[in-house]
Amino acid sequence: MAQIRLRSRDWFGKNDRWGLAHRAWLRAEGFSSRDFQDKPVIGIANSWSELNNCNAHLRQLAEAVKRGVWAAGGFPLEFPTISLGEMLMKPTTMLYRNLMAMDVEECIRAYPLDGVVLLCGCDKTTPAQLMGAASADVPAIMVPGGPMLGGMWRGREIGSGTDLRRYWDEVRAGRLGEEEFCEIEGCVSRSAGHCTVMGTASTMAAMAEALGMTLPGAADVPAVDARRKALAEESGARVVEMAREDLRPSRVMAREAFENAIRVLMSIGGSTNAIVHLVAIAARLGIALPLARFDEISRATPLIADIKPSGKFLMEDLFNAGGLAAVIKELLPLLHASAGTVTGKPLGENVVRAACYNREVIRPLGQPLGPEGGTAVLKGNLAPAGAVVKQSAASPQLLKHRGRAVVFENNQDLLARFDDPNLPVDESSVLVLKNAGPKGAPGMPEWGHLPIPTKLLKAGVKDVVRLSDARISGTSFGTLIVHVAPEAAVGGPLAIVRDGDEIELDVAARRLELLVSDGEIKKRLASWRPPKPHYTRGYGRMFLDHILQADEGCDFDFLRGREPREESEPLRRFPNPSV
Ligand code: FES
Repeated sequence: MAQIRLRSRDWFGKNDRWGLAHRAWLRAEGFSSRDFQDKPVIGIANSWSELNNCNAHLRQLAEAVKRGVWAAGGFPLEFPTISLGEMLMKPTTMLYRNLMAMDVEECIRAYPLDGVVLLCGCDKTTPAQLMGAASADVPAIMVPGGPMLGGMWRGREIGSGTDLRRYWDEVRAGRLGEEEFCEIEGCVSRSAGHCTVMGTASTMAAMAEALGMTLPGAADVPAVDARRKALAEESGARVVEMAREDLRPSRVMAREAFENAIRVLMSIGGSTNAIVHLVAIAARLGIALPLARFDEISRATPLIADIKPSGKFLMEDLFNAGGLAAVIKELLPLLHASAGTVTGKPLGENVVRAACYNREVIRPLGQPLGPEGGTAVLKGNLAPAGAVVKQSAASPQLLKHRGRAVVFENNQDLLARFDDPNLPVDESSVLVLKNAGPKGAPGMPEWGHLPIPTKLLKAGVKDVVRLSDARISGTSFGTLIVHVAPEAAVGGPLAIVRDGDEIELDVAARRLELLVSDGEIKKRLASWRPPKPHYTRGYGRMFLDHILQADEGCDFDFLRGREPREESEPLRRFPNPSV
């Protein structure tokens, strides 16, 4: 193989004033001249933060990565990026996913890195890093942080988010005391690591592995398991080789890799958020992933992993059953087994030794939990550019439904009225939330899991059809139609739905219709006026000016595509005049 010229040599390999300066300033950290001798420089992009419990252990993982890099003859340098903590960040981490992607991309490009290890965990940190790495296109490997220990309360397993929602509904219905609910607070999140169900973080870690961007097994080893550190060390060693092989994200994440990821997404009942993220990552590489393709693959992919919220088990059970590698092995007849990965081997070869140890958790392809994938894509006059529903976590009897709309103009309206005993709602109603999309909310928060009105809960109703231009958490369950595009705030038909309008849902036929005449829809749209923008300055303003719709991945319009590196470009652009 031809010897690759390392990018870092432009900084450290020259015997001129700039070469001396670059080495000298870094030697301030105590490195010796030996470290500059033609070793690949490996950046460790660390999204550790005490404001993000899911990523709170990533410093220890970074140390393990460094061991691997040093052992393989590389030179590791850890750097921080912003971190997006799903629980604490308001109004939503999705408002900042693209900002983090820009941070990652620009750091990789601006610094003397020959390879990069991406340390992620919580929901948006994974797609943001993949988007940034795809655009920078320097050899990269991902090490997700892994799921936290499974929650346990009074001998019962509690899945993050999923069961918390269930118990909260029990409190509201008067069937569970507040004291018991407070007890759950101390039992649900038992360690660092991401949520324990097939929420967005678990799904995105699975997507990274299915895309070929991690070592096999990276998606599900528990966060605090010793094997997670061993995997980080192995990843550090591997990226040194990748730097020498010039194995870049654009060579790994090809169209076949995305189709594999979609197939895996559907087979595990993964988060609907993954659709938005995969579309955005692919677009960075010039690959179009229309929603129709997700639906085609979903229709031809059986659901085989029985994980909450679609099923009954937790991520740790998936790990003990053989992990995502065993799922991939089961799916191989449906996958592009020859797709490349960061190991340098095809995906099919990576899972040769994988095995399933629990057929309740990972079903055989011939005996699936359901004949189709977890998510269906809907179209109709209410969602001309599409909407999605996680059918595997919905109520089967509601997948074909006709009901009258109960409309909430925005989230404040919803919060003010869902508890009202006089709300004109019954179990056949369709709850509609507007102005919760990318521009309308803004940031498309996970408000699509509209609470069931208290009067229905007290009557024993557990689910109704709910419809919005928002997203839902990957931990959500129920008949939730989300990602309606175009969103209400840009004048999508959702904007003109009124109380009492009839709405028809037919998931099998992939239809979502407002049963109002075309003429009436036209008339209402003609008198519609856009809401006032939420921001007039700063990052928020930039977000509103450039954000794309859900079916386009919610990236900024100017971030699609990539900028392949040029060896001497960094020094041309940044002549470092202060030295
Ligand atoms: Fe971070 Fe759920 S809150 S993964």
